[in-house]
Amino acid sequence: MTHTPTTAATEMRTSALVARVWSQYLSPQKGLLAFAIACAVLVAVTTTVVVGWLDPAINLLFRVNNTADRITPHLPVWITAHPLISVPAVIVVFGILRFAGQRGLTTTLNRVGNQLVGRIQEQLFSRLVRADLGHLQKAHSGQYLSSVLYDADQVRDAASTGLVQYVQALLLVIGNLTFMFWTDWSMTLVVLLAGPVIGAVMSQYLKATRKAAQGAMAETSSLSTAVMESLDGVKIVKIANQETAEEARVGEVINRRQRFLIKGANARSMAAPATEVLTAFLLAGLLAFAGWRAQSGHLTVAGLFAYIAALGTASQALRQLAGLQGTFTQGLTAARRLFKALDIEPEITEAANAKPLSRDFKAITFDNAGFSYGDAPVLRNVSFIAKAGESIALVGPSGSGKSTLLNLLPRFYDLTAGDIRFDDISHRDIAITALRSRIALVTQDPFLFDDTIRANIAYGNANATAEQIEQAARDAAADDFIRALPQGYDTRVGEAGSRLSGGQKQRIAIARAFLKDAPLLLLDEATSALDTQSEVKVQEALERLMKGRTTFLIAHRLSTIRHADQILVLDQGRIVERGTHDQLTRTGGLYASLAATQFGHPVPEAAQ
Ligand SMILES: Nc1ncnc2c1ncn2[C@@H]1O[C@H](COP(=O)(O)OP(=O)(O)OP(=O)(O)O)[C@@H](O)[C@H]1O
Ligand SMILES: [Mg+2]
Repeated sequence: MTHTPTTAATEMRTSALVARVWSQYLSPQKGLLAFAIACAVLVAVTTTVVVGWLDPAINLLFRVNNTADRITPHLPVWITAHPLISVPAVIVVFGILRFAGQRGLTTTLNRVGNQLVGRIQEQLFSRLVRADLGHLQKAHSGQYLSSVLYDADQVRDAASTGLVQYVQALLLVIGNLTFMFWTDWSMTLVVLLAGPVIGAVMSQYLKATRKAAQGAMAETSSLSTAVMESLDGVKIVKIANQETAEEARVGEVINRRQRFLIKGANARSMAAPATEVLTAFLLAGLLAFAGWRAQSGHLTVAGLFAYIAALGTASQALRQLAGLQGTFTQGLTAARRLFKALDIEPEITEAANAKPLSRDFKAITFDNAGFSYGDAPVLRNVSFIAKAGESIALVGPSGSGKSTLLNLLPRFYDLTAGDIRFDDISHRDIAITALRSRIALVTQDPFLFDDTIRANIAYGNANATAEQIEQAARDAAADDFIRALPQGYDTRVGEAGSRLSGGQKQRIAIARAFLKDAPLLLLDEATSALDTQSEVKVQEALERLMKGRTTFLIAHRLSTIRHADQILVLDQGRIVERGTHDQLTRTGGLYASLAATQFGHPVPEAAQ
């Protein structure tokens, strides 16, 4: 079973990646995005106009009559006549317009961006909850967690915020550069020559920032994995006195992440002073050049003033453009990771003309069934027939494939050879939901959700009435202890049922199975977590549950399987013996010796 993504998102070309981000996440928001870009244009234009306005404004305010002034003569009289009113008025009006643009921009972007994050998270979770068991066991949950939590944010920063900021910054650069050329093209050419030097220095720091950011991102994922592992295994950690070792292990990851963060922060904070020094040099040269241009009458004071303002605006926008490269790289890396996770198609899929499954099937046939998780076969040539209503016990040494065999029935994994049939229908031709709705599963360590006992019993059975739920609990011998709890059926069980004992959890799981009332029952060591006293209760409950149902059961205790209609003895994935308890103990094979040693007491019935 290999789980290769259908389209290799890892090798996806950047253009294809961008196209996919666009078509999946942005194009549904085209209208809003266009509005945001329009706002960005408004901000860029108003900013540039205010900068350009400085030139005539100063000329008007100081009543300079300069022949080189190229704007004032073109302005209408009602502006030039009352500069004390018109100069601030223009700035106020454009300032308000700029504010409106900025406001429209940010509110729209916040909406578009966070909706995008929500959609990605929903998609990821939907993939996750539908993924094959085999795949989930290979990937670590920490990676999923950091993908769901952080990658989506990074795609947002690049795709919506980044895109619009890019347009705005680009327009600011173009607008202000145009103004600078228009004011004094030769001076602007000189400035542009200095630009690449500053750019080269900046890109050096940016590269360092980017590298550090990527490292930090990878370590964030390791950190969540490490913390989750220590928490999940908290009992193991405590009993092995490994708190210090765990501190060291997680501390190591924290340190690595911190080193990346510090490197990144250093590079970022050094970038600003370094460019400031270079900018100061540039300004010095610029003033010398401007003095020379002014003497030859090519440049006015007002022109120089506006020119420097435009230069400042343009270079700030340029810096923003350069910074956005990093945002885009991070966004693309995150998108690549995201799509890789999203592209994993479940291999366990439904047949085209999937059939329903009758409650009253007559038999389940294992026909030369074979299975492997990887290369080595775990089950080989497993053939037997379970008649409806029979109980089939699976016995065998640890690792012989008992649980695996149970997991094949609900198609948690698909067979690699042979078939399993319900009457004449291959279980692969049965609709997956139909198949699973006919199967109830009780395992050694039943999983409970952090919800009320009532909701846990009714899980997957939304229409169950309170009466049905309580009846199921009574059948499972759980009603007594549930009523003794402070809030009865409305008691919350805590994360993974941590506030209940093993036997109590077990009985809730059995109640769940009673309520589901499925004709096929899978019991994987359903009683092994219990002490003898609660085992009696649970045992009785299980026997009630098994009545009238086809049951596959795995149990280590002989008493549980003694009455099974068929006992299949597995060894290294093969059925090596089969028969009833009496037959098998008489033949004196593996079952007899397992019964004698593993079950901890001599074969009682044979001795009688
Ligand atoms: N998810 C998995 N991925 C890969 N190999 C697995 C996986 N689960 C089980 N195996 C392997 O398959 C074999 C059978 O495992 P299985 O859990 O079916 O044994 P079992 O008979 O139920 O054992 P036990 O009595 O200890 O529960 C073992 O060798 C085990 O290492
Ligand atoms: Mg097992």
